[in-house]
Amino acid sequence: MKAEENRLKPEELRSHRWLGPDDLRSFGHRSRQKQSGFNTEEFAGKPVIGILNTWNDLISCHAHFKQRVEEIKRGVWQAGGFPVEIPVMGMSETFMKPTSMYYRNLLALETEETLRTYPIDATVLMGGCDKTTPALLMGAVSANIPAIFMPGGPMQRTSWRGGPLGSGSDVWKYWAERGAGRLSCDDWCDLESHIAASPGHCMTMGTASTMTSIAEVLGFCLPGAASIPATHSGHSRMASATGSRAVEIAWQNLKPRQILTARSVDNAITALMALGGSTNAIIHLIALARRAEVPLTLDRFDEISERVPVIANIRPAGKYVMPDFFEAGGLRGLLGRIKDLFDLACPNVAGTNLGEAIGVADVYEDDVIRPRDNPLCESGSLAVLRGNLAPDGAVIKPPAVEPHLLEHRGPAVVFKNYPDLKARIDDPALALTKDHVIVLQSAGPLGAPGIPEWGMLPIPKYLLEQGVRDMVRVSDARMSGTSYGACVLHVSPESHSGGPLALVEDGDMITLNVNERGIDVDISDEEMASRRAAWKPPEKRFSRGYGRLYFDETTQAHEGCDFRFLHADGSTDPDPEIY
Ligand code: FES
Repeated sequence: MKAEENRLKPEELRSHRWLGPDDLRSFGHRSRQKQSGFNTEEFAGKPVIGILNTWNDLISCHAHFKQRVEEIKRGVWQAGGFPVEIPVMGMSETFMKPTSMYYRNLLALETEETLRTYPIDATVLMGGCDKTTPALLMGAVSANIPAIFMPGGPMQRTSWRGGPLGSGSDVWKYWAERGAGRLSCDDWCDLESHIAASPGHCMTMGTASTMTSIAEVLGFCLPGAASIPATHSGHSRMASATGSRAVEIAWQNLKPRQILTARSVDNAITALMALGGSTNAIIHLIALARRAEVPLTLDRFDEISERVPVIANIRPAGKYVMPDFFEAGGLRGLLGRIKDLFDLACPNVAGTNLGEAIGVADVYEDDVIRPRDNPLCESGSLAVLRGNLAPDGAVIKPPAVEPHLLEHRGPAVVFKNYPDLKARIDDPALALTKDHVIVLQSAGPLGAPGIPEWGMLPIPKYLLEQGVRDMVRVSDARMSGTSYGACVLHVSPESHSGGPLALVEDGDMITLNVNERGIDVDISDEEMASRRAAWKPPEKRFSRGYGRLYFDETTQAHEGCDFRFLHADGSTDPDPEIY
């Protein structure tokens, strides 16, 4: 009844300003709708639903979006809305260079301005492949126009020579095997034909699965949407239902900042920890929260991590893949097992709240979604480290670390940048041992640029041949959510900006203590100050174009790597009445 009372009248719709009035401009708008072949009664007085589609031919993860967008439109028509498909930048995790993260804020900006400039009453955001999800949500939160997220869904499970395969995770595993001489070139090519077997995003608990799950927990998806595999018929039905629901949130004028609050962000972090999710989610959630003036910091992740068990047994931390998770009960099954850790009153786009969305969700396979008393690990899915090597913080994924490396002290071997690493890592003259700490500089937000997923630094071939599979590695880079190992990531401030990481030299002793949350280099303050005085800042790399904007405006990892000028403070909304 309350929702009914709060419903907009047709003349209160945002699109009415373009399509309703009897004036010269609206004549132009209506005549152009007719140019597209629509009769007045097909669009007049109806909510315009802008479907932002991140499809392109290079995003294999979104190959099914051409069909899904038609299913979303079907749902919009049936609910009495007027669907308009708007292509926005498709960000392919695999194809974009230097990294899709370099362009996350560009898609966020495009999303915000597309929603702002067109007569859109509500939007359906079609994303899935890694950065598309945070980018679309960041833009929608800034525009603050009713928004619902349609997750792309994970690809189907696949196997190779009798064993299951996991996106990313098994690429790294078999690449190491190839480095150790245990996999031929022909074997490698054969693996290439099996690792990605259908449309859909990576089916491990990488960044894509983590972020789509987070979108659902935040309240931006219809309940159950994030876990449905991309090729399951339920995915098509969810697309249609999402389109229909978009019409309703337009009438209710249910805005993203009613959904994204400090309480729902805490829920998202709790789910991230229980899922054993990607370290990348930390950067994205900080950026997203700050778009809604929620002042999220790294410390909140550590606080919540301490009290949440990891109960999703999904690769890379666990054993199974996302289609197994779906069949075991999916995200709602997992949330139901730890219901008491969430604020169940947080609203969602379905018009209910998190508690109602979870409902009576059940779990059908206890080894995939573990019971509370048999978790993958009791707590500490992600940990925030600080010390004289990372004064503003760094992160590590403890369950992905070989336990003996959780406390480690060893001499640094330093690579100045990624080309240096590639050129020298396998050189036997370096004489690395398993106790060395591999350090990579210039791999952060500005240094690389784009904070690429280089953080799982390669282990030298000759150590792989000796059976070494994990070493402590430190960088200002990110790591793919499908990666694993004792990798200290997102060191902040980054080396490019003169952070202490830039001052580390070969042979410096580095101490990692995950239990104490420490990452330190064993040099005195005086020595650090003298090295800093001798350090020369790198030359500015771009003097024009997007690169210049990126370099001038991108914040550090602990601040979310957003553009400063896109933070929540300030006003940008032009008044369409006067244009
Ligand atoms: Fe698209 Fe992994 S490459 S989600």
